[in-house]
Amino acid sequence: MNLNVLISREDIDKKIKELAKQISRDYKNKDIFAITVLEGAKIFSEELRKELKALNASVENTFVKLSSYANSTESAGKIKIVRGLEKGVKGKEVLVIEDIIDTGLTLHFFKDYLFKQGAKSVRICVLTDKPARRKINVKLDYVGFTIPDKFIVGFGIDCKEQHRELPYIAYVE
Ligand code: IMP
Ligand code: MG
Repeated sequence: MNLNVLISREDIDKKIKELAKQISRDYKNKDIFAITVLEGAKIFSEELRKELKALNASVENTFVKLSSYANSTESAGKIKIVRGLEKGVKGKEVLVIEDIIDTGLTLHFFKDYLFKQGAKSVRICVLTDKPARRKINVKLDYVGFTIPDKFIVGFGIDCKEQHRELPYIAYVE
């Protein structure tokens, strides 16, 4: 498997700082209830929350695990909650933190679920957006990078549980 650098660590760091600025401005005087989608968004979320804290934003985070890709590079189309929310979202200003949006099925499902659970607002922050294969429209509030139709790994994102530890984002050939 060949790995080619798509986004450098330096560019990721810069982008995370920009996103944090935007988010902290938008959530001024509001408590952010962050929901990080495991596993892929873990590293991104930690870095983003560090920057948000540095800007004095009020952030509480919880994790959720959703499954769509059943160990392959093609979306299975069906979304399951593998690890559910440990706290209710009723009345909360939710910020969903995700690594990548591809078909959109995962985030479409999850946003709908959060509103059904009583969230006051739901905004979505993705590190990468792969619009080429979108099947359903999802409003993205914060986007790090728009990427071409390639399978990517690194900075938390995996291919069959491999390459998450890469400090940059690469595409697989
Ligand atoms: P969606 O439901 O098709 O938008 O899929 C979103 C999920 O698919 C992401 O959270 C990833 O887990 C996975 N995914 C989609 N594209 C890639 C990729 O290029 N590399 C790694 N995982 C991907
Ligand atoms: Mg993901």
